[in-house]
Amino acid sequence: MSGMHRVHFRNENLTVDVPTGTNLRTSCLQFGVDPYPVLGGLVSCRGKGFCGTCMVSVDEPSALCTPSKREAKFLKKAKAKYAPEVAEHLRLSCQATVQGDVVVTTDPDTKPGWHTHPYYSGRPIHSWKISE
Ligand code: FES
Repeated sequence: MSGMHRVHFRNENLTVDVPTGTNLRTSCLQFGVDPYPVLGGLVSCRGKGFCGTCMVSVDEPSALCTPSKREAKFLKKAKAKYAPEVAEHLRLSCQATVQGDVVVTTDPDTKPGWHTHPYYSGRPIHSWKISE
């Protein structure tokens, strides 16, 4: 498939058209979509395929390129952690290129424990009391 493809970012409710072969993380950043969970961008490897913070879930895995060796290694670990129906949709956005129309969910809630801290869940944080 070649030409332009429609990428819909579900959480951001944004649809964009990108050419075949566009890097998914690059398109996120280009259109103002944050591919990282809260603070994830600060510790990311900036697209080198090492950190996993740019992980997204895609509805149509076949609409992206075949995972590279590096990404496949990372996804293998993810498959061991998550339910098969979740893991089969995960991709590293920095390693994936668009080959067809695709729906993308950034910051998929797949990391057990990640959102349980009040900072990430939106629950009130009780401030520390400094004893006098
Ligand atoms: S940005 Fe680090 S793996 Fe994608």
